[in-house]
Amino acid sequence: MQLITVQPDLMIIYVSRAAFEMGADELKSLTDGSARRNKEKNITGGLIKVGNYFIQVLEGPETLVKELMNKITTDPRHCEVRVLYKETVQSRIFAEWITGYLNLDEQYVVSLKDYRQLRELVHKVMSMETVGKDSIMGIIKGFSLLLQKHKAAA
Ligand SMILES: Cc1cc2nc3c(=O)[nH]c(=O)nc-3n(C[C@H](O)[C@H](O)[C@H](O)COP(=O)(O)O)c2cc1C
Repeated sequence: MQLITVQPDLMIIYVSRAAFEMGADELKSLTDGSARRNKEKNITGGLIKVGNYFIQVLEGPETLVKELMNKITTDPRHCEVRVLYKETVQSRIFAEWITGYLNLDEQYVVSLKDYRQLRELVHKVMSMETVGKDSIMGIIKGFSLLLQKHKAAA
């Protein structure tokens, strides 16, 4: 008899601060490389740059997501990596890997309310305020819609 074990999916959400001002080319190579590797590992999620901060959601096979997170944490391109959520999940939020950059001057793709909500989340996390799980999930669902809107407008 063959025993097939199904690994649960792990979801990690973190916020970090860019270590330096990254140019469009650097960001593109970071996100293109991430998209390619994540696809190979069946990792979905999204990365968004809001001002000087990154918010990333990673979801996928537990061992692979943990392995990737270890690499990301020591990546010199960012610092102050703060994990807000790390749990095994029944279902994923993202169907694919999506990235986006949101700046205030890009308001045509994002409502000011969505943008403010993300900025508030970053601010709270970075000042070590506790953020409730429900509020994190609500914001992350908004985040995934935002990325999809951004992708559709690109
Ligand atoms: C903000 C940020 C997000 C990243 N996200 C990913 C990602 O989703 N997938 C990925 O493979 N690498 C990501 N990386 C890059 C990894 O840190 C690492 O450079 C990459 O996995 C290549 O590692 P390797 O050269 O050891 O294979 C990210 C880096 C940063 C700074």
